[in-house]
Amino acid sequence: MTDLRLCALSKHFGTMPVLQGIDLDIASGEFVAFVGPSGCGKSTLLRCIAGLEEISAGSLQLGGIEMSRTPPAERGIAMVFQSYALYPHMTVFQNMAFGLQVAGLPRAEITARVTDAAERLQLTPYLSRHPKALSGGQRQRVAIGRAITRNAGVFLFDEPLSNLDAALRASTRVELAALKKSLPGTTMIYVTHDQVEAMTLADRIVVLRAGRIEQVGRPIELYRNPANLFVAGFIGAPAMNLIPASFEGEAALLPGGVRLALGFAPPARQGHVGLRPEDLHLSPEGPLKGQVRLIEHLGEVQLLHLGGPVDFMAKVSGDLQVSEGEICAFAPGRVHVFDAMGQACPPSTATAPEG
Ligand SMILES: Nc1ncnc2c1ncn2[C@@H]1O[C@H](COP(=O)(O)OP(=O)(O)OP(=O)(O)O)[C@@H](O)[C@H]1O
Ligand SMILES: [Mg+2]
Repeated sequence: MTDLRLCALSKHFGTMPVLQGIDLDIASGEFVAFVGPSGCGKSTLLRCIAGLEEISAGSLQLGGIEMSRTPPAERGIAMVFQSYALYPHMTVFQNMAFGLQVAGLPRAEITARVTDAAERLQLTPYLSRHPKALSGGQRQRVAIGRAITRNAGVFLFDEPLSNLDAALRASTRVELAALKKSLPGTTMIYVTHDQVEAMTLADRIVVLRAGRIEQVGRPIELYRNPANLFVAGFIGAPAMNLIPASFEGEAALLPGGVRLALGFAPPARQGHVGLRPEDLHLSPEGPLKGQVRLIEHLGEVQLLHLGGPVDFMAKVSGDLQVSEGEICAFAPGRVHVFDAMGQACPPSTATAPEG
């Protein structure tokens, strides 16, 4: 059993709290991504789970057994870092075998495990090469291979693809997805700054901010129903437009006298509405108007930066003929509503009629 349970886990460095009251259950075989702004404690949380940092309070259980005082080597956890730290003088085979040799495994067992890991990661043709003769993506796969050979029940990845260029990142991401499928019982925790990685790889995403959990959920849940303003602004790229609003009956009033129908009466008088750039549809009668200030052409789509009483962004088809200076009107599809405390209201199901 490799399910992981964190209860009221806290960590401080000196007097500085870095993780506070982390409660999290991760099921055996689950793939969970940790996301959050730089410095929010993602790596520290991973290092606490691995045992590389001692926790200051709370508990950490693996398969129902308290592990917070167990040395890293005895936790059955393998960690893969951003810098893959391969031994330059050893071949790929030796790099993957080294930890097993140190652990005193029989030679035949070592060969079997390395061969298996190499096959899973498509490294078989490179086993006799040295790291300097490998691409960045191949090196990262060797580092992952080293973790696989240890037969760990839990894998921790700290931004493993962040050193790779965009194309290699994409292909290595697909390989990781395949690896996850081929190791169904293995629990994986993955720290990333890349939304695409988190959205595509993870069964669930944990959003952290300043050492606390803001929301945990399936990627699509976080996208559709962010629990608060922070998650709303963090999940989704380009980010959701967050506009101050007051509420009157079933309508939201935005700066400049813009009135949006909500289809429900928020139990708040002030707050914000959230409009995803991809939920804004061009419509001559649309209530939300803005002047195009800047256009970012991305090929298939273009991002319009609009200004007016409110500044906002809209994602429209790349085929659309639009020029800077033009006034465009939009009807919002889905309107997210947040109260004055920044909490979604009604919690998680604020839906507006299709506009
Ligand atoms: N050994 C340490 N001693 C003191 N402070 C530390 C130590 N390690 C981390 N910190 C602090 O703890 C906080 C969280 O750091 P952490 O590395 O976990 O952030 P992160 O979310 O992984 O950030 P990034 O996305 O930039 O990697 C930061 O403010 C950092 O400066
Ligand atoms: Mg980090």
